[in-house]
Amino acid sequence: MKTEEKSLIRALRGEPLKTPPIWLMRQAGRYLPEYRETRKTAKNFLNFCYSPDLAVEVTLQPIRRYDFDASIMFSDILVIPDALGQTVAFREGEGPVLDPVRTIEAVQELTSDGVLDHLEPVFEIIRRLRIELPQDKTLIGFAGAPWTVALYMIEGRGGTEGEIARRWAYQSPESFSKLIDLLVDATTKYLITQVENGVEVIQLFDSWSGLLAEIPFQQWVIEPTRRIVEGVRKYHPDVPIIGFPKGSGLRIPEFVQQTGVTGVSLDANAPLEWARDTVQPLATVQGNLDNQLLVAGGDALDQAVLRIKDILGKGPFIFNLGHGIVPMTPPENVARVVELVRQS
Ligand code: CP3
Repeated sequence: MKTEEKSLIRALRGEPLKTPPIWLMRQAGRYLPEYRETRKTAKNFLNFCYSPDLAVEVTLQPIRRYDFDASIMFSDILVIPDALGQTVAFREGEGPVLDPVRTIEAVQELTSDGVLDHLEPVFEIIRRLRIELPQDKTLIGFAGAPWTVALYMIEGRGGTEGEIARRWAYQSPESFSKLIDLLVDATTKYLITQVENGVEVIQLFDSWSGLLAEIPFQQWVIEPTRRIVEGVRKYHPDVPIIGFPKGSGLRIPEFVQQTGVTGVSLDANAPLEWARDTVQPLATVQGNLDNQLLVAGGDALDQAVLRIKDILGKGPFIFNLGHGIVPMTPPENVARVVELVRQS
């Protein structure tokens, strides 16, 4: 099947579909027993991400089980700091741990020169997925947006409110912008090369964009995203790009208009009728089931899925969660969501 005939691409081109395409963020992950089995065979999480055999296998697992319409390549947003030369590790039960970058000198020690060589295993994963994925499935590539990646690079771990990163951005925007520029450059090259190796759609995760006030949001979320979109489109004018400015609420319409993204992923907080009336005329919307409803299951889950489908399904729409699947999710609840989204 040609890329332009696939349901996810048609939705991203602005076509309302009777049955919306569905995929779920973190669809490959610890909630699946087969993922946990494969994961055991890798030394650590980064190694896992850089092992084509293992990464291809776990990317395909949720497609086999649920027949989703799209597959997101298995990797992580923190491969970029790793490729820039920062020390990155993932600790069991703790998440990512990085040697913090907090000064202009520390930024100057990083370089984007070797990024594409370092990330060659990711490109091999993409090439193999294009061969191994069923032909009607869309392959999604991704990267973290600069603000969110910078936040992990500066804080050195998750679970913060980005206090150190925000203070740096406010106190010394000129030196902070050197880190953002480095990330814009590395991320643009990385995404262009993902497309060259076979991804058909790109998603940019800005998980922490909701932490910034109005002016810094413009400066550190909208502007770097706009530059990446422009940089990728220079080489690949038609590739659909989905932005995910999580937690950015009322700023979503301006985010869409000013960055030029094709689609926007909404978190579970976004009111559906507002999204239909205000966001959907500007871009394809994706979302936005609460990931805890997926854990809870039952009537509450059924009703929420049908409400999202009913309100957003008349315009260009991709069914997804408001944030990634969590490990305690019962796999049968995921099957239920797919069934409900596909029933007429
Ligand atoms: O199926 C998919 O969605 C593809 C793979 C994917 C992962 N991470 C795999 C992963 C994607 C798209 C990501 C994106 C990502 N990574 C984001 C943006 C989306 C979001 O969730 O906000 C962020 C912030 C990260 C950074 C990251 N990676 C954290 C904070 C953690 C620890 C939290 C956790 O869930 O453990 C990770 C680890 C990680 N990345 C896991 C997976 C499946 C779990 C680790 C494991 O299996 O050992």
